[in-house]
Amino acid sequence: PSIRSYPLIRMSDSGKEFLFKVLVVGDIGVGKTSIIKRYVHNFFSGTYKSTIGVDFALKVLNWDSDTIIRLQLWDIAGQERFGNMTRVYYREAVGAMVVYDVTRPQTFDAVQKWKTDIDNKVFLPDNNPIPCVLLANKSDITPSKQIKSDEEIEQYIQENNFAQHFKTSAKENKNIVEAARFLVQKIIEATKDIVEDADKDDDDYGNTVSPNDRKPEEKEGCHC
Ligand code: GTP
Ligand code: MG
Repeated sequence: PSIRSYPLIRMSDSGKEFLFKVLVVGDIGVGKTSIIKRYVHNFFSGTYKSTIGVDFALKVLNWDSDTIIRLQLWDIAGQERFGNMTRVYYREAVGAMVVYDVTRPQTFDAVQKWKTDIDNKVFLPDNNPIPCVLLANKSDITPSKQIKSDEEIEQYIQENNFAQHFKTSAKENKNIVEAARFLVQKIIEATKDIVEDADKDDDDYGNTVSPNDRKPEEKEGCHC
Protein backbone atom coordinates (compact mmCIF):
# COMPACT_ATOMS: atom_id res chain seq x y z
CA PRO A 1 0.00 0.00 0.00
CA SER A 2 1.19 3.50 -0.76
CA ILE A 3 1.63 5.82 2.17
CA ARG A 4 1.55 9.58 2.26
CA SER A 5 2.19 12.23 4.83
CA TYR A 6 -0.86 13.72 6.53
CA PRO A 7 -2.84 15.76 5.35
CA LEU A 8 -1.07 16.12 2.04
CA ILE A 9 -3.40 16.37 -0.92
CA ARG A 10 -1.05 16.69 -3.84
CA MET A 11 2.62 16.27 -4.53
CA SER A 12 4.16 17.13 -7.85
CA ASP A 13 7.41 18.38 -9.34
CA SER A 14 6.33 21.91 -8.54
CA GLY A 15 5.76 21.20 -4.86
CA LYS A 16 3.43 19.99 -2.12
CA GLU A 17 -0.11 21.00 -1.35
CA PHE A 18 -1.83 20.55 2.01
CA LEU A 19 -5.42 20.87 3.12
CA PHE A 20 -5.87 21.93 6.74
CA LYS A 21 -9.34 21.97 8.25
CA VAL A 22 -9.36 24.61 10.99
CA LEU A 23 -12.23 25.19 13.45
CA VAL A 24 -13.19 28.67 14.60
CA VAL A 25 -15.26 28.43 17.79
CA GLY A 26 -16.36 30.59 20.70
CA ASP A 27 -19.56 31.96 22.17
CA ILE A 28 -22.24 33.95 20.36
CA GLY A 29 -21.16 37.30 18.97
CA VAL A 30 -17.46 37.14 19.91
CA GLY A 31 -16.45 37.90 16.31
CA LYS A 32 -15.67 34.54 14.68
CA THR A 33 -17.31 35.40 11.38
CA SER A 34 -15.74 38.88 11.45
CA ILE A 35 -12.26 37.42 12.00
CA ILE A 36 -12.70 35.04 9.07
CA LYS A 37 -14.13 37.76 6.80
CA ARG A 38 -11.22 40.03 7.66
CA TYR A 39 -8.67 37.28 7.10
CA VAL A 40 -10.10 35.92 3.84
CA HIS A 41 -11.72 39.00 2.22
CA ASN A 42 -10.10 41.87 4.19
CA PHE A 43 -13.58 43.11 4.95
CA PHE A 44 -15.31 44.23 8.18
CA SER A 45 -18.91 45.13 8.95
CA GLY A 46 -20.25 46.47 12.24
CA THR A 47 -23.65 44.90 11.58
CA TYR A 48 -24.25 41.66 13.46
CA LYS A 49 -25.71 38.75 11.56
CA SER A 50 -25.56 35.58 13.64
CA THR A 51 -24.25 32.45 11.93
CA ILE A 52 -26.66 29.54 11.73
CA GLY A 53 -25.09 26.09 12.01
CA VAL A 54 -21.77 26.32 10.23
CA ASP A 55 -20.23 28.41 7.48
CA PHE A 56 -17.07 27.85 5.44
CA ALA A 57 -14.27 29.88 3.95
CA LEU A 58 -11.08 28.99 2.14
CA LYS A 59 -7.77 30.80 2.39
CA VAL A 60 -4.92 29.69 0.15
CA LEU A 61 -1.44 30.35 1.53
CA ASN A 62 1.74 30.28 -0.49
CA TRP A 63 3.58 29.00 2.52
CA ASP A 64 7.04 28.75 0.99
CA SER A 65 8.53 28.38 -2.47
CA ASP A 66 7.27 24.81 -2.86
CA THR A 67 4.39 24.51 -0.40
CA ILE A 68 0.77 25.58 -0.82
CA ILE A 69 -1.58 25.35 2.13
CA ARG A 70 -5.32 25.39 1.70
CA LEU A 71 -6.89 26.51 4.96
CA GLN A 72 -10.48 25.41 5.18
CA LEU A 73 -12.01 27.54 7.93
CA TRP A 74 -15.11 26.17 9.66
CA ASP A 75 -17.05 29.06 11.16
CA ILE A 76 -19.17 27.33 13.80
CA ALA A 77 -22.09 29.30 15.22
CA GLY A 78 -21.74 30.17 18.90
CA GLN A 79 -25.17 28.65 19.49
CA GLU A 80 -23.80 25.23 18.53
CA ARG A 81 -22.19 24.82 21.94
CA PHE A 82 -25.66 23.97 23.19
CA GLY A 83 -26.32 21.47 20.39
CA ASN A 84 -25.15 17.98 19.47
CA MET A 85 -23.60 18.75 16.11
CA THR A 86 -20.10 19.78 17.12
CA ARG A 87 -18.74 16.24 16.94
CA VAL A 88 -19.78 16.11 13.29
CA TYR A 89 -18.34 19.54 12.54
CA TYR A 90 -15.03 18.77 14.25
CA ARG A 91 -14.32 15.65 12.22
CA GLU A 92 -10.89 15.65 10.50
CA ALA A 93 -9.94 19.07 11.86
CA VAL A 94 -6.23 19.61 12.46
CA GLY A 95 -6.32 22.93 14.32
CA ALA A 96 -8.62 25.42 16.04
CA MET A 97 -9.03 29.04 17.02
CA VAL A 98 -11.02 29.59 20.21
CA VAL A 99 -12.32 33.15 20.38
CA TYR A 100 -13.66 35.28 23.22
CA ASP A 101 -14.79 38.92 23.45
CA VAL A 102 -12.63 41.07 25.76
CA THR A 103 -15.67 43.18 26.66
CA ARG A 104 -17.76 40.22 27.91
CA PRO A 105 -16.23 38.07 30.72
CA GLN A 106 -18.80 35.32 30.27
CA THR A 107 -17.39 34.62 26.80
CA PHE A 108 -14.03 33.96 28.44
CA ASP A 109 -15.67 31.54 30.89
CA ALA A 110 -16.96 29.62 27.86
CA VAL A 111 -13.44 29.21 26.41
CA GLN A 112 -12.72 26.24 28.64
CA LYS A 113 -15.99 24.58 27.62
CA TRP A 114 -15.13 24.96 23.93
CA LYS A 115 -11.60 23.69 24.48
CA THR A 116 -12.81 20.66 26.43
CA ASP A 117 -15.41 19.95 23.74
CA ILE A 118 -12.70 20.00 21.06
CA ASP A 119 -10.26 17.87 23.06
CA ASN A 120 -12.96 15.28 23.76
CA LYS A 121 -14.18 14.98 20.19
CA VAL A 122 -11.34 15.41 17.72
CA PHE A 123 -7.79 14.06 17.58
CA LEU A 124 -4.94 13.96 15.13
CA PRO A 125 -4.42 10.52 13.57
CA ASP A 126 -1.65 9.88 16.12
CA ASN A 127 -4.26 10.56 18.87
CA ASN A 128 -2.67 13.82 19.99
CA PRO A 129 -4.96 16.81 20.56
CA ILE A 130 -5.22 19.29 17.71
CA PRO A 131 -3.23 22.55 18.12
CA CYS A 132 -5.38 25.46 19.37
CA VAL A 133 -4.79 29.19 19.68
CA LEU A 134 -6.79 31.52 21.95
CA LEU A 135 -7.97 34.83 20.47
CA ALA A 136 -8.96 37.78 22.68
CA ASN A 137 -11.06 39.61 20.10
CA LYS A 138 -12.43 43.18 19.98
CA SER A 139 -9.16 44.36 21.51
CA ASP A 140 -9.74 47.71 19.77
CA ILE A 141 -12.17 48.37 22.65
CA THR A 142 -10.82 49.11 26.12
CA PRO A 143 -13.00 47.04 28.45
CA SER A 144 -14.33 48.58 31.66
CA LYS A 145 -12.69 45.71 33.53
CA GLN A 146 -9.79 43.61 32.25
CA ILE A 147 -10.70 39.91 32.33
CA LYS A 148 -7.17 38.63 32.98
CA SER A 149 -3.72 40.17 33.25
CA ASP A 150 -1.09 39.14 30.69
CA GLU A 151 0.58 36.94 33.33
CA GLU A 152 -2.69 35.24 34.21
CA ILE A 153 -3.44 34.58 30.54
CA GLU A 154 0.04 33.10 30.10
CA GLN A 155 -0.62 30.67 32.94
CA TYR A 156 -4.14 29.96 31.68
CA ILE A 157 -3.00 28.93 28.20
CA GLN A 158 -0.37 26.61 29.63
CA GLU A 159 -2.86 24.96 31.97
CA ASN A 160 -5.42 24.58 29.20
CA ASN A 161 -2.99 23.49 26.50
CA PHE A 162 -3.31 26.40 24.09
CA ALA A 163 -0.31 26.86 21.81
CA GLN A 164 -0.48 30.67 22.11
CA HIS A 165 -2.81 33.61 22.72
CA PHE A 166 -3.32 36.74 20.61
CA LYS A 167 -5.14 40.02 21.20
CA THR A 168 -7.03 40.43 17.95
CA SER A 169 -9.31 42.96 16.32
CA ALA A 170 -11.30 42.11 13.22
CA LYS A 171 -12.30 45.75 13.07
CA GLU A 172 -8.76 47.12 13.00
CA ASN A 173 -7.16 44.08 11.39
CA LYS A 174 -4.92 43.36 14.33
CA ASN A 175 -3.02 40.10 14.89
CA ILE A 176 -5.30 37.91 12.76
CA VAL A 177 -2.71 37.08 10.11
CA GLU A 178 -0.16 36.50 12.89
CA ALA A 179 -2.48 34.14 14.79
CA ALA A 180 -3.31 32.15 11.65
CA ARG A 181 0.33 31.90 10.68
CA PHE A 182 1.29 30.71 14.14
CA LEU A 183 -1.46 28.08 14.10
CA VAL A 184 -0.47 26.80 10.65
CA GLN A 185 3.13 26.47 11.85
CA LYS A 186 1.92 24.41 14.83
CA ILE A 187 -0.22 22.22 12.56
CA ILE A 188 2.74 21.58 10.29
CA GLU A 189 4.88 20.59 13.28
CA ALA A 190 2.14 18.41 14.76
CA THR A 191 1.33 16.55 11.53
CA LYS A 192 4.62 16.32 9.66
CA ASP A 193 5.59 12.90 10.99
CA ILE A 194 2.16 11.37 10.59
CA VAL A 195 1.83 9.11 7.61
CA GLU A 196 -1.46 7.73 6.51
CA ASP A 197 -2.16 4.62 4.55
CA ALA A 198 -3.46 5.94 1.24
CA ASP A 199 -5.70 2.89 0.75
CA LYS A 200 -7.39 3.39 4.11
CA ASP A 201 -7.80 7.04 3.29
CA ASP A 202 -9.63 6.13 0.11
CA ASP A 203 -12.11 4.21 2.25
CA ASP A 204 -12.75 7.33 4.28
CA TYR A 205 -13.32 9.68 1.42
CA GLY A 206 -13.89 7.58 -1.68
CA ASN A 207 -17.32 7.52 -3.23
CA THR A 208 -17.15 3.80 -3.95
CA VAL A 209 -17.71 2.96 -0.28
CA SER A 210 -21.18 3.45 1.12
CA PRO A 211 -21.52 4.82 4.68
CA ASN A 212 -22.90 1.46 5.80
CA ASP A 213 -19.62 -0.23 4.94
CA ARG A 214 -17.73 1.89 7.42
CA LYS A 215 -16.46 0.58 10.70
CA PRO A 216 -18.98 1.09 13.56
CA GLU A 217 -16.71 3.48 15.50
CA GLU A 218 -16.50 5.76 12.47
CA LYS A 219 -20.27 6.07 12.30
CA GLU A 220 -20.70 6.48 16.03
CA GLY A 221 -20.13 10.23 16.11
CA CYS A 222 -22.71 11.09 13.49
CA HIS A 223 -26.04 12.33 14.79
CA CYS A 224 -27.26 13.64 11.49
P1 GTP B 1 -22.20 33.97 16.00
O1 GTP B 1 -22.20 33.68 14.54
O2 GTP B 1 -23.56 34.36 16.51
O3 GTP B 1 -21.63 32.87 16.83
O4 GTP B 1 -21.26 35.30 16.24
P2 GTP B 1 -19.78 35.57 15.72
O5 GTP B 1 -18.82 35.08 16.75
O6 GTP B 1 -19.60 35.09 14.34
O7 GTP B 1 -19.70 37.18 15.77
P3 GTP B 1 -19.69 38.20 14.53
O8 GTP B 1 -18.43 38.08 13.75
O9 GTP B 1 -20.96 38.08 13.80
O10 GTP B 1 -19.59 39.59 15.32
C1 GTP B 1 -20.55 40.01 16.27
C2 GTP B 1 -20.55 41.52 16.40
O11 GTP B 1 -19.28 41.97 16.92
C3 GTP B 1 -20.72 42.25 15.07
O12 GTP B 1 -21.55 43.38 15.28
C4 GTP B 1 -19.33 42.68 14.68
O13 GTP B 1 -19.30 43.86 13.91
C5 GTP B 1 -18.69 42.92 16.05
N1 GTP B 1 -17.22 42.67 16.02
C6 GTP B 1 -16.58 41.57 15.58
N2 GTP B 1 -15.26 41.68 15.71
C7 GTP B 1 -15.03 42.91 16.25
C8 GTP B 1 -13.85 43.60 16.63
O14 GTP B 1 -12.72 43.14 16.51
N3 GTP B 1 -14.02 44.86 17.19
C9 GTP B 1 -15.25 45.40 17.37
N4 GTP B 1 -15.29 46.61 17.91
N5 GTP B 1 -16.39 44.77 17.02
C10 GTP B 1 -16.28 43.54 16.46
MG1 MG C 1 -20.80 34.04 13.08
